[in-house]
Amino acid sequence: MPPTDARPTIPPLAGLCDFDSAQRPGLSVEECVAWHKRNHYVLKRLFELLTARITAEPQYELKTAFSHHAYLCAEHVTALRTRVSEMREPPLGLEEVPHPALELLCNEVLCAPTTDELLRGVYGVLVPALIDSFENYIATTNPLADAPSVRVARFALLELREMNEFGRQAIEALGTRAGMLDWMTDLYDCLLAAGGLSGRQPESNVKLRPGYSAKPFEFDPVPKRDARFHDSFNGGVNPEAFLYDERFSPRDKVLMLFYKRLREIDVPEMMASIIHQTPGKPWKYYRDMSRQLWDEARHAMLGEVGFVSQGIDWSSIPINFTWSLNLNTQLSPRDRHAVLYFIEQGLMPRNGKRFEWEVATESGIPLAKLIQDFDWADEVLHSQIGREWYVTEFPNLNTALSYGDRCWSTILSQWQRYLDESLTEHRNWWPELYRSACARWGVTPDPAALAFDQTYAEVRADLKAITGSA
Ligand SMILES: [Fe+2]
Ligand SMILES: [Fe+2]
Repeated sequence: MPPTDARPTIPPLAGLCDFDSAQRPGLSVEECVAWHKRNHYVLKRLFELLTARITAEPQYELKTAFSHHAYLCAEHVTALRTRVSEMREPPLGLEEVPHPALELLCNEVLCAPTTDELLRGVYGVLVPALIDSFENYIATTNPLADAPSVRVARFALLELREMNEFGRQAIEALGTRAGMLDWMTDLYDCLLAAGGLSGRQPESNVKLRPGYSAKPFEFDPVPKRDARFHDSFNGGVNPEAFLYDERFSPRDKVLMLFYKRLREIDVPEMMASIIHQTPGKPWKYYRDMSRQLWDEARHAMLGEVGFVSQGIDWSSIPINFTWSLNLNTQLSPRDRHAVLYFIEQGLMPRNGKRFEWEVATESGIPLAKLIQDFDWADEVLHSQIGREWYVTEFPNLNTALSYGDRCWSTILSQWQRYLDESLTEHRNWWPELYRSACARWGVTPDPAALAFDQTYAEVRADLKAITGSA
């Protein structure tokens, strides 16, 4: 028999901590709230600035990572707002700037003129400062009395550390550039002047001056792509026309589904502009829109994975960007949202996402079925988001829908102009892609599928005729 005192015991204090830590004086509720508000502010600014940089960031891997990281920040902002609201705080004061030096710090990173500087600002300064702040918070507060905050901080740390590691690798991949240290020192000076992100250190009295942010940030609505994306005005293949043509096999249609998914990278490019140019909404609007933006980036990556799974080099296919380009440069943010909602509603009925899932299911390619299964589920969520934040601005659903339809029609099809201005030859890229897929599958191409040559000249993606301006 082991001695009594060595017997296993059930951990006390619900397993949160030991009695010594539970007696730690920690922080008062007021101090906790003040600290949360600083973390909240920087996370919210990080969400905003990453979103603001998605459209014009050419590097595909950064475009998708910014979409992801902006969404993660939005989730942690939401958690912190909830926690602050639990701490005897109304009015919450969550829209106030906690310290002018923190505002300058975030403005500087937002205005970073190059991707290199942006990455160093985000992943070299802001994210590490947040990690440091949350770690210190956990080490300082009373782990039993303030357990709900500790939980929020631990979840934030989990994802901030992953963001940090991504950023470290991205910065390493870009290499070092002279002059970068000076700029980063300016950013650290902002943190020192603010008494650290937590505000619990003495504030340095270093003189701060706006550098890049001396000129206010200007959002660039023109989508940029890296070298793997070429012939971006190409409207030489209408994948929807192929998809809904009963002559073609589900297996062949999967190639068009993968293309449609990858082409969705234009949705984050467009949604980022709506989010950035729609100030003053309740916080939940930004959280929901950020989630949808991230889903669309994920759909693009699922398409990419689809091509990789078939051994197809997707960079040989022109991934069109005229949808995000035209919406961002020709419509107001509200009208862009109208088009988005109208298109997504069109995806809901029998002929939309369910049909794509059925095609994928019948294709015999399990990955295609999985991709369409989740794509469909995400679209149902997006439809709810649209109902909450777009449709509520109209007397009823039908008015909201027909407005979206009209907005889409006002986007002139510039198919002919692109051709006339030699922006594209509208090359029919389909036969080449189809032939290479058939060679990999070891099958003979279906002559009818191989001959497919329907373009976007006269039919838009929902297979309605293009009528010019409405
Ligand atoms: Fe999507
Ligand atoms: Fe969607």
